[in-house]
Amino acid sequence: MTPARGAGGRRKAAAGDNAAVAAMLEAIPFPCAAFASDGGGLVAANDGYRKAFAGLDGHDHRARLLAALADGDPDGSDADAAPREVNAPHSNRWYALHWGAADVEGTALDLLTAVDISARIEALDSHKSRQEKLLFTSRLMSVGEMAATLAHELNQPLAAIVNYLNGSLRLVDQAGGPVQVERALIAARTQAEHAAAVISRVREFVRAREPRRDARDLVEITNTVVELLRLEAERLQLRIELALAPGLPAVYADRVMVEQVLLNLVKNAIEAMREIPAQHRGLRIEGRVNLDGEVEVRVCDRGEGLSEEQGAQLFSPFFTTKSDGLGIGLAICRSIIEYHEGRLFFEPREGGGSVFGFTLPPAEGRGQQ
Ligand SMILES: Nc1ncnc2c1ncn2[C@@H]1O[C@H](COP(=O)(O)OP(=O)(O)O)[C@@H](O)[C@H]1O
Ligand SMILES: [Mg+2]
Repeated sequence: MTPARGAGGRRKAAAGDNAAVAAMLEAIPFPCAAFASDGGGLVAANDGYRKAFAGLDGHDHRARLLAALADGDPDGSDADAAPREVNAPHSNRWYALHWGAADVEGTALDLLTAVDISARIEALDSHKSRQEKLLFTSRLMSVGEMAATLAHELNQPLAAIVNYLNGSLRLVDQAGGPVQVERALIAARTQAEHAAAVISRVREFVRAREPRRDARDLVEITNTVVELLRLEAERLQLRIELALAPGLPAVYADRVMVEQVLLNLVKNAIEAMREIPAQHRGLRIEGRVNLDGEVEVRVCDRGEGLSEEQGAQLFSPFFTTKSDGLGIGLAICRSIIEYHEGRLFFEPREGGGSVFGFTLPPAEGRGQQ
């Protein structure tokens, strides 16, 4: 029903003068109000209406009420037959508005019933975000399948490399040096073993799609990652500063997966500082327990930082600004961290540069430890 509007010649109802209407509205189990068709002033309202809308500026006038309710339909004041779905900004609840016209003792009234549909809207929203997440995960899964094929091909040569390196190490050891060669061989073996671990975990990930979580020490994880990137950092004359709070609790995590995340973030940080003069390069890995009791790891660089526009796309798969970039590093990081019930985040670093970080739940109180 279209509310009768400005019908000329009818007696104007003054707000609150109609006890019969008020009593009638009180019997309706939804927020209800009657406005004068002529002028739009509030004539009567039930308790539900007052509870829902009294906190909203303009709740006592039809046009001002409609203006205060956000509905994405700016000139929607022509209320038509379909109920309109609106958001009440003061309470952030959603309502479907139904209008009806009534004539009470010669006064033309527009009757409003507001049905709270917040639960439905929320269900729709969470369904949508679940859908998006599923889509995202399935896309990553196809990347995973691709990786699994690669992993299969790489597994053999990597195992062979580790064997050759072990053999060489034994030979150097028997010959008594030189120590530089020994160190280089150990570093090479660490790299190859890490590659093999990543690859075998990729295969497992695709097979089981279930990370293996345990109580893990972040100091160990961080040291492994720093060791893996030591050469790259040295090449750029970049010192990796470690600032892990003492006594950091163990996290409930899959070690290789979290290493992978941290490795990606530190690599990105190093890459972000390639073009920065050496004396300005600075990389710091922070670890602390945040206010929510989660363990939070932050990788801080002094690179160019990111524009707001880039920031918005960061975590989408295949977003890259590098000529040799794949743009799946951060997307995979996010997927892994979400598996761990954590959060991957980005923020600008004070004094220039970026902070990429993630949270992980502490291991304490978790099942298998
Ligand atoms: N520390 C950082 N500083 C500035 N930009 C970054 C940083 N980390 C990531 N980015 C931006 O995010 C993009 C996506 O990163 P990523 O998913 O790791 O893919 P890739 O490194 O292959 O480009 C990068 O191309 C870069 O533009
Ligand atoms: Mg990257």
